[in-house]
Amino acid sequence: MHINRYEKTWIYVTGVLTAVMVGVLTFYAIANNIHPPSNVETIDSASLHLTAEFAEENLGVKTNADGSVTVTLVGARYGFYPRRIEVPANTPLKFRMASFDVLHGVHVPGTNVATMVVPGYVSEVNTVIPTPGEYTLFCNEYCGLGHDQMWSRMVVVDNGSAPQ
Ligand code: CUA
Repeated sequence: MHINRYEKTWIYVTGVLTAVMVGVLTFYAIANNIHPPSNVETIDSASLHLTAEFAEENLGVKTNADGSVTVTLVGARYGFYPRRIEVPANTPLKFRMASFDVLHGVHVPGTNVATMVVPGYVSEVNTVIPTPGEYTLFCNEYCGLGHDQMWSRMVVVDNGSAPQ
């Protein structure tokens, strides 16, 4: 079968571009631990308040028996609740988030925390934050008129443990 040589060139060009893009994604997935939300755990967003985990009084920061920390948050128009959390530096953190209403996203600049919070699913992110300070959890998915006001505060405190 005859293939025009320009056609052939473009086949190579698109092949190389595809390889480069897949390579870049793979590199960052491995080197920076950046990955799409993959926690396929479902939940009924309309009755979050009736679940044990996401009931209002159970939200926030909990220290587990092994010293790691679980942060349970609900995203709802317009905030991540509780609005202010305090977590230790250099400690494994597991964020578990659910939306009460529509699609939200959470992005914490300076960390690898960036995920969509899709109604009907629990979003889970694991991270360790080495630098103490004040961080902001921004909503990065348009969720309504108050979207640009949707943020919460995270204070990372130095608990004296060495960097990992
Ligand atoms: Cu929530 Cu934008």
